[in-house]
Amino acid sequence: MAVKRASEAFSKSLIEEVHKCGCMKQTGVSLRYMMEFGSKPTDKNLLISAQFLHKELPIRIARRAIELENLPYGLSKKPAVLKVRDWYVDSFRDLRSFPGVKDMNDEKKFTEMIKAIKVRHNNVVPTMALGVQQLKRSLDPKIDYDDLDEIHQFLDRFYMSRIGIRMLIGQHVELHNPNPPPHCVGYIHTKMSPVEVARNASEDARSICCREYGSAPQVNIYGDPDFTFPYVPAHLHLMVFELVKNSLRAEQERFMDSDKVAPPVKLIVADGIEDVTIKVSDEGGGIPRSGLPRIFTYLYSTAKNPLDEDSDLGMADNHVTMAGYGYGLPISRLYARYFGGDLQMISMEGYGTDAYLHLSRLGDSQEPLP
Ligand SMILES: Nc1ncnc2c1ncn2[C@@H]1O[C@H](COP(=O)(O)OP(=O)(O)OP(=O)(O)O)[C@@H](O)[C@H]1O
Ligand SMILES: [Mg+2]
Repeated sequence: MAVKRASEAFSKSLIEEVHKCGCMKQTGVSLRYMMEFGSKPTDKNLLISAQFLHKELPIRIARRAIELENLPYGLSKKPAVLKVRDWYVDSFRDLRSFPGVKDMNDEKKFTEMIKAIKVRHNNVVPTMALGVQQLKRSLDPKIDYDDLDEIHQFLDRFYMSRIGIRMLIGQHVELHNPNPPPHCVGYIHTKMSPVEVARNASEDARSICCREYGSAPQVNIYGDPDFTFPYVPAHLHLMVFELVKNSLRAEQERFMDSDKVAPPVKLIVADGIEDVTIKVSDEGGGIPRSGLPRIFTYLYSTAKNPLDEDSDLGMADNHVTMAGYGYGLPISRLYARYFGGDLQMISMEGYGTDAYLHLSRLGDSQEPLP
């Protein structure tokens, strides 16, 4: 793949526009706002929403395109990163060449366009992971992870922004559904049962574990299944899936050659006034204290990396394995933080790990806008 900077691959005026737009202020929305606004998906509201996105998306996308051009250690020149940069600039161009959303006819066309943009960006995470992998291979192996902090910080901003962009597009598109499932406002479920979502996510993680190891520890879930609060089930599913997957793997690895059966992973759902907290506890031997600062970086995994540089980029997304990208924890933490929550890991080396996933219950924290 020829290495081309954006200034060579795209017209000068387009790149100037990217830079101009990238300096403009982003506007965040809260879960509560999305929920209240989306509960009345009238033509008028859909039009307002499309007009907002027509203005907001190019700003958010431009910021990322600029950052993608200026990464340290030559990361910007890695073929996979150039591919991602092209997706961002193409999407920016699509949005900017859409003249404006004046009536419902425009709104329909605009919605189709942003739907296509969301699809274009489907494989951003595995493709960026491949780019980082390409960089890692080309770097001096003596380079410390701490030196790559800049890259880690960039990836945190980049993926956080991606979560926001996809949430906004997905929410707008979903509001067009003439028969939304009960209690659903776009992606938001106004009466989501965390216990139920945790149960499904745990089962999904267990079936992958069975596929990979031939068996899987039980996951015992404690909490009131009737307790509900407004949240995005897909986000919670992803986070619990990643945490349980890590716990199952740790236990499998620890008890593989032992006579003892791996003890059940415990998942507790607590409903507080401010937060809903989900704790995932395992007896998988914990994480050494020296490794803890790295677990939230995108470059750290104790598993063999399943990304092969020769593999088809498009396929990477479909390949779900127990572990290996080192992305499970940092991405889950971003999803938690996106709606004002957080993720913490406490380890007892020699025994096990507790993951605390805090979800903000009030839903009124503004989107983080990197
Ligand atoms: N519950 C746990 N017990 C022991 N080690 C853990 C646990 N959770 C995470 N780790 C350690 O932290 C590392 C990073 O976890 P993370 O989920 O981010 O990536 P991964 O599991 O290696 O790959 P993937 O991207 O597929 O999740 C793991 O490789 C593992 O060494
Ligand atoms: Mg993992």
